[in-house]
Amino acid sequence: MKVAVIGLGKAGLPLAAVIADSGFEVVGVDIDERKCEMINNGINPIPEEAGLDELIKKHGGKNLIATPSYEDATDCNVFVVIVPLLIDEDHNPDFRILEDAFRNVGKVLKKRDLVVLETTVPPMATETLAKRWLEEESGLKLGDFYLAYSPERIMTGYSISRLKKFPKVIGGVNEESGTRAFEIYRKFIPNLHLVSSARVAEFIKLIEGCYRDVNIALANELFKIANELGVDFYEAREYANHEYCHIHLPSTGVGGHCIPVYPWFLIKEMEKREKFNYVRLLRVAREINDGMVNYWAEKIVLECMKIDKPLNDVKICIKGITFRKGVKELYHSRNLALAKLLMEKRLNVFVYDEMFNKEEIEKLGLKWIEPNEADLVFDAFELKIAWNV
Ligand SMILES: NC(=O)c1ccc[n+]([C@@H]2O[C@H](COP(=O)([O-])OP(=O)(O)OC[C@H]3O[C@@H](n4cnc5c(N)ncnc54)[C@H](O)[C@@H]3O)[C@@H](O)[C@H]2O)c1
Repeated sequence: MKVAVIGLGKAGLPLAAVIADSGFEVVGVDIDERKCEMINNGINPIPEEAGLDELIKKHGGKNLIATPSYEDATDCNVFVVIVPLLIDEDHNPDFRILEDAFRNVGKVLKKRDLVVLETTVPPMATETLAKRWLEEESGLKLGDFYLAYSPERIMTGYSISRLKKFPKVIGGVNEESGTRAFEIYRKFIPNLHLVSSARVAEFIKLIEGCYRDVNIALANELFKIANELGVDFYEAREYANHEYCHIHLPSTGVGGHCIPVYPWFLIKEMEKREKFNYVRLLRVAREINDGMVNYWAEKIVLECMKIDKPLNDVKICIKGITFRKGVKELYHSRNLALAKLLMEKRLNVFVYDEMFNKEEIEKLGLKWIEPNEADLVFDAFELKIAWNV
């Protein structure tokens, strides 16, 4: 068995490394040539991922070969696709990257090969789009090859341990695909569960994301109410939470490739079917979470006004611009959105983030500052405003 992993990003590379570490030959295909070169030289391009350095050093360029060319995966018989699926400005899924990956896999697909999609996708994308792209490019029919879906459930920073311990599900677009995919995947995923279909496996991942988004929105709403009432939210939350109540933590909103994206997959699908009432809560949760930057911007401005300086002269530092602490990713970062919102208000905004150096920050069109040099610091992860004056 030789496995191709398509997309060596924060999700794909740890998976490729774990498969290689289970004793299989792995070809990692990624359009980023520089990344491929690093991996083949045993250098981990995602240093913040615990345990990955060791695996890349051990397998990179040996039984894990990274390449930008799909042709190098011709002799593979298992293809795992884990490239990003983003949403456009209207929150509709943008399938271009996924289609490109699948069509390229289709070109090298052979009889009896297995393709497993891991990217989180809108409902039924595996049994409709993925199947069609593969069939069109390969000239084969489902049945000649196997097709399944298994959602990636890692969390950046903890991916290796998650892949080794966390329950993972897999489901086929038909029964044979499910069984075959399960048999192969359990050779490197210890805690694997076969579900009845790819559609169910897709839905599992989507509802998990929706649960998180809605519950974070609830925490954000309760946090605002608590502040209005002069109640310490964190103290109340500590005692409110028990076996049946798990109030999440408030934030500046929800960022990254995952949670803010997945509810839209269900919202858009239901809207297409004119089932608008089915997704009211999901929509409101998105609005609440995205609106948190306005709440924090207002709070920061009010604090700035207490400083004995013209408002536009107050040096504001937003400490933390990534979407999550310790993960070098700005996609849909609400912390970055907050910094930009304050800049739009013509305030003197600087940023600091332990994941970026001054040069990188400036390349983003932002001003860098050490927090102790600012007049006011908003810690975007701790949600704390501190004055230095
Ligand atoms: N990162 C996570 O924590 C996480 C968690 C759960 C699920 N996921 C899923 O994994 C998907 C990928 O996320 P990620 O964090 O790895 O993204 P990423 O941006 O870190 O990496 C994506 C990789 O795909 C490569 N790529 C892009 N187009 C390609 C193509 N046509 N062919 C081959 N390679 C291509 C890019 O060069 C990049 O290396 C997400 O869309 C999501 O569905 C991610």
